[in-house]
Amino acid sequence: MINEYINNNKDRFLDELFELLRIESVSADSKFKNEVDKAAEWLVNSFMKLNLDKVEKIKTKGHPIVYAEKILDTSYPTILVYGHYDVQPADPYELWDTPPFEPTIKNEKIYARGSCDDKGQMYMHLKAYEALQETGKINFNIKFMIEGEEECGSGSLEEFVSSNKEKLSADVIVISDTSIINNDNPSITVGLRGLSYMEVELTGPNRDLHSGTYGGAVNNPINQLCEIIASLKDSNGKILIPGFYDNVITYQDEQRDEINNVPFDLSEFKSHIKIGDTFGEKGYSTVERIGTRPTLDVNGIWGGYTNEGAKTVLPSKAYAKISMRLVSNQSSSEISRLFKDHLNKICPKSCSIKITDHHGGEPCIVNTDTKGYRSAYKAFQKVWNKDPVPTFDGGSIPIVALFKKELGLDSILMGFGLDEDAIHSPNESYGLYNFYKGIETITCFYQNFADDEK
Ligand code: BES
Ligand code: MN
Ligand code: MN
Repeated sequence: MINEYINNNKDRFLDELFELLRIESVSADSKFKNEVDKAAEWLVNSFMKLNLDKVEKIKTKGHPIVYAEKILDTSYPTILVYGHYDVQPADPYELWDTPPFEPTIKNEKIYARGSCDDKGQMYMHLKAYEALQETGKINFNIKFMIEGEEECGSGSLEEFVSSNKEKLSADVIVISDTSIINNDNPSITVGLRGLSYMEVELTGPNRDLHSGTYGGAVNNPINQLCEIIASLKDSNGKILIPGFYDNVITYQDEQRDEINNVPFDLSEFKSHIKIGDTFGEKGYSTVERIGTRPTLDVNGIWGGYTNEGAKTVLPSKAYAKISMRLVSNQSSSEISRLFKDHLNKICPKSCSIKITDHHGGEPCIVNTDTKGYRSAYKAFQKVWNKDPVPTFDGGSIPIVALFKKELGLDSILMGFGLDEDAIHSPNESYGLYNFYKGIETITCFYQNFADDEK
């Protein structure tokens, strides 16, 4: 019945998603503010069409949150769906084979910014609810909270969640914003990394200098910044900020074996991104490095003269954006503090240093001994004919830790993306197979959660 409904409405589901994908809801860039708002309005309309109640576009300091619910019976269990309708900037546009906001089907995939992260994945929940509504009785309550600031740090969320605990009260939270191993090996995410994101500004002399008249006698802030950055890690990939690893979970051999026991293909991993070899912390596998170990990476570095030709200049300023992915039980604010203290300490007097904090987020580990996890597990077993594998993903969804802290609820991370979907990159895509199969799996999850005792 349900599958038949999904199948009969396949094309319409896609047409609707395409409407949303055409809206340029880039949250990080104020130039797109109206488009972000348009995407929120579009969602409000979609929820109205689904006949949901209390459909609201809630203003925040940043972009609006869209909320909707259907409480059929207070004795039914309540499922809270979280997702985001904002997307990453599409830059650099010239690297896209088809325009980022003109969704295009090619090789059985939808190409568009946000097709996977997270419009396509979030929209599966609306269609799953619709399919259940149209084909049978629903014995659960549903709440949707879809935000518009995930890709720029969810700045308004903590306040919203903590001051709306009653509104958001539920028995489980489900989020489709992660990936599976591949289409032959479905998986459920049980760990996500956290994040500390810092910006460093190093100043040498008060103005750009002639590199001949001053060079050799005045410290060059770009050279100095490179030296500082290089000193933050040793050649074994170990991070050298004192205290950095203090709270990092260590897994026993048995648990490590379990974490490594996933169908991961190292040569495919390398060939997909065209690298000759992997690099990471010595003593850990690639799977462990991504899922269970923290990182420190320069995201951008600039300063001095970079235009055509040669300019002999000793620059006044050097900048870098540096992010650290964190794992349980590191704390984002504590790591940011350690980073600042360390850099302030090692910066020589010949330069001055200014460090600012960007958004961060806490890591999380999902408890698998819950009704929610079992419901997701069984849904994958049924729809994919295979036992899903628990995996630790390297990305971050800060709201998960926030939900746990504020609402005391575990989130089920039931994503359907693939690494090859190139989220955040040019030519982001989402497989049609994953879109439809995901809708089916979600209907099954909702039903399992409503039907099962515990
Ligand atoms: N959906 C991603 C996170 C993700 C992707 C988790 C794939 C697991 C697998 C999310 O939209 C995202 O991009 N998060 C940001 C964090 C944020 C604080 C900007 C990230 O991970 O960089
Ligand atoms: Mn996302
Ligand atoms: Mn993202």
